[in-house]
Amino acid sequence: MPRTLIAGNWKMNGLRANLAEIEQVGAAVPASDLGPEVLLCLPATLIQAAAASVVGSGLKIGGETCHSKEKGAHTGDISAEMLKDAGASFVIVGHSERRADHAETDSVVAAQASAALRAGLTPIICVGETLAERDAGEVLKIISSQMAGSIPQDAEASTIVIAYEPVWAIGTGRVANTDQIAEVHGLIRNLLTDRFGEAGKGVRILYGGSMNPGNAAEILGVAEVNGGLIGGASLKAADFLAIYRQAAQ
Ligand code: PGA
Repeated sequence: MPRTLIAGNWKMNGLRANLAEIEQVGAAVPASDLGPEVLLCLPATLIQAAAASVVGSGLKIGGETCHSKEKGAHTGDISAEMLKDAGASFVIVGHSERRADHAETDSVVAAQASAALRAGLTPIICVGETLAERDAGEVLKIISSQMAGSIPQDAEASTIVIAYEPVWAIGTGRVANTDQIAEVHGLIRNLLTDRFGEAGKGVRILYGGSMNPGNAAEILGVAEVNGGLIGGASLKAADFLAIYRQAAQ
């Protein structure tokens, strides 16, 4: 069984005043190889201070996206090397909000994931269907093509994490039911073992979309769910830690 990963995604939320929430999470997560791995992916402005404040704890810090290039004339962008330099060890790539707001295609996402690997970060590669795609019966087709296009050639099973985030469940309070989650996670597992062989069984597959302390235990109990990518409920230390504690049981 892959080690569970409980990952928060703060999105475009958080000022320095909110660093106290991060310190609270750090204080509750022991530095240990046992139990779930815990991560907060933060706005770039907070990464350095957050990483410094959790040194010695088990809490890891990540970015929310990165550019594919190491450096250069890309005003406003941030490279994987910069995130690493600031103290990140993971980065989310291909989140549906990035795909929608910044027209990031599968090939852009694959290049970003490859950049993360180049910089020594673990990419969390996101896939997920829209409601229209689900209603059209295209879930498996969409997820398969996103998986094929978004995982870079240089990826190895041990260096990536996949997140299944149905777009219609993100920030809506509407959670995929356990059958829907099991179906897509099972498909993703098969695609991973097709690609990586036996090692594909070790890739963590996170569920994301309105996960909260009230539904986390049920979702984490679904076959092939190896953790969560948590947006709204990661902003408050108490909620995020409640999810972590359920994963730790
Ligand atoms: P949510 O966001 O938990 O607020 O639905 C999840 C995500 O977008 O990663």
